[in-house]
Amino acid sequence: MKFTNDQHKIWESLLEHQLPNVQKFACREFLSGLESIELPQTQIPSLEFLNSKITPKTGWSIRRTKTRYIDSIPWYQHFVRKEFVVTDFLRSWEEFEFTHEPDMFHDIFGHLPFHMISEYTELIELFAPAFLCATKQQQEDIKRLAWFSYEFGLIRQEGEIKVFGTGLLSSIGEIAQVTSGKTSILPFTTENVLKRNKAIYTFNKELFVFESIEALKRELRKYFDSILKAGQSKIQSSEKIVDRQMKLS
Ligand SMILES: [Fe+2]
Repeated sequence: MKFTNDQHKIWESLLEHQLPNVQKFACREFLSGLESIELPQTQIPSLEFLNSKITPKTGWSIRRTKTRYIDSIPWYQHFVRKEFVVTDFLRSWEEFEFTHEPDMFHDIFGHLPFHMISEYTELIELFAPAFLCATKQQQEDIKRLAWFSYEFGLIRQEGEIKVFGTGLLSSIGEIAQVTSGKTSILPFTTENVLKRNKAIYTFNKELFVFESIEALKRELRKYFDSILKAGQSKIQSSEKIVDRQMKLS
């Protein structure tokens, strides 16, 4: 995949602006992944480079797509196969501080350092199995849980609130808004999160904090397990019907 010189310049400039912010405000897992992935500073990284770093660490592989925004079903079908799909769309200079669409700076800089850390990939691996056997309403709820956890979540570390969500880590404008105390922060519980709507075209007015990745996993599992159990009993009862039909025929 070839990118223009202007796109490489935008990448370089985004990194220049956001590196000091994440050094100050990001959680320790992101900073550790960022150190070990060694993203190139002046060039958009190639797929080969990203896979050579990530696959040996966590077994995930990275793919590129020309699609600007992948629908949630194919997105989670990739997740089941431990594939993370990166768009080849990059924001323009006009959208430098905020883009409502995830672009490759969001996908690569925001997400991929975390893919070096197995504690993190075990967290995101919880989403796809539940999503793919959920009802339509439950799928909307799971998208909300994803939004307020791995996309825009906050985490408490050494008594401070640190930035965990990739949407904040890759947004020059919104990370400033949140870290200057202009966003309300509530405890991350499924009950709290499921009452809120995602803010796609503006900054989020309310965000949620969890005490650790383990605590977040526990909270999500409580909700996902009930979906998985119902999904399994649906599969078992449809298997019984097929079984009975076969005996009768
Ligand atoms: Fe994202």
